[in-house]
Amino acid sequence: MNPSLNPLVTCIKESATLAINLRAKELRRQGHNIAHFGFGQAAFPVPEILQQAVRDNADSNMYLPTQGMPELREAVSKYYQEEFNLAFPAEQICVGPGSKELIFQTLYLVEGALLVPAPSWVSYGPQASLRGKEVLPIETSRENSYKLTPDELDRACHKLGQQQKLLILNNPNNPTGAVYTQEEINALAEICRAYQVIVISDEIYAGIDFTGTPQASMAKPYPEGTIVSGGLSKLFAAGGYRLGVMLFPKALSGIMNAIKAIISETFSCVSAPIQYAGLAAYSRFDELKPFVNRTREIYSFASHYLWERFIDMGLNCPEPQGAFYMFPDFDNFKFKLRKHGMYTGLALAERVLAEARVAILPGADFYFMATNLGARVASVDFDGRMVYDTWENRPADSKAVVDEMFPNLRDGCDRLENFLHGL
Ligand SMILES: Cc1ncc(COP(=O)(O)O)c(C=O)c1O
Repeated sequence: MNPSLNPLVTCIKESATLAINLRAKELRRQGHNIAHFGFGQAAFPVPEILQQAVRDNADSNMYLPTQGMPELREAVSKYYQEEFNLAFPAEQICVGPGSKELIFQTLYLVEGALLVPAPSWVSYGPQASLRGKEVLPIETSRENSYKLTPDELDRACHKLGQQQKLLILNNPNNPTGAVYTQEEINALAEICRAYQVIVISDEIYAGIDFTGTPQASMAKPYPEGTIVSGGLSKLFAAGGYRLGVMLFPKALSGIMNAIKAIISETFSCVSAPIQYAGLAAYSRFDELKPFVNRTREIYSFASHYLWERFIDMGLNCPEPQGAFYMFPDFDNFKFKLRKHGMYTGLALAERVLAEARVAILPGADFYFMATNLGARVASVDFDGRMVYDTWENRPADSKAVVDEMFPNLRDGCDRLENFLHGL
């Protein structure tokens, strides 16, 4: 049989990210020592409070409301109010199997073009393309830590003319590790209001922020046009639990009601035991603060170690301020790389994997041109359980910390440095 498929789906290619991830895993399986800087997921074990909630509710076999359990939505509402000073009542909150699915449904439902800063998370574009939506990347600059500026946004909105526009802004940011200040977001909000842009404020990394400032959100200066997304995956280290939340302003209730309808006709609801884990996470957040604080410190240490090594070896890289990523570029090595046949970011990533045994992801997967020599690096290639358990008693000397707790980060940097300086 040769079934004909929806052309919108078949035009989505397997991403280089996935390909490099698979290759790195395969090389590891064959016994090669690979530093996996391509792999970005929370490094730590799921906190016991969440695990216990799943166990306690393993016999919950009833379908739950499509929008999510009312007590869970109440807990989410209270959490956002207390932690981020954002006021979304429980009836304006929707629970889904990961914020990724909720973002997809929003892109599916809302007409108009999608604006994404370049670089941005890999999945926004393909999600929009699955629905035949125009995607307009807005190139940002390294000098501004790859943060979108009002001028850049204004020019892009202007280009799109009268049609409805959506913007996804991720803060703290994957792939750059940048954190917007509230002032920077306020300035962007003015442009969004002028063009009536619908904003998805992707705040899945909220709380993993090394700057010590409160989470900045577009929902503060531009509440009527901003949808906030978040979930358990990052701060609570529970990506595989698949629980995301989306918070809608009253003015955009139409989108939320349509999402509820889609949920009711597709997956019905998020798995019941997992909703109880979500309830535990959000309603007992005070008890989870020591976990959150310690993991944030560890992410900051690991990211800053990598960043300092990258700067030392001659790469350009804005300082990571949150999440567990950064975006170094290899521009200073451009001519040497070309001399060795590496004209694209993908060619560079492939050679770095083959020769330095370090997995990095090419800038082209993050909405840059193929020739862009930026790369996404994740700083989570360490034994999260061991590091978490021993962090309190770590050596005073940071070199000893790296040697004991982050040997893969150290070895990957050593090999990358040798690769670059051997060119
Ligand atoms: C920027 C960004 N947004 C959204 C998600 C989706 O998270 P989840 O579907 O696990 O809630 C991720 C996950 O990697 C991400 O990096």
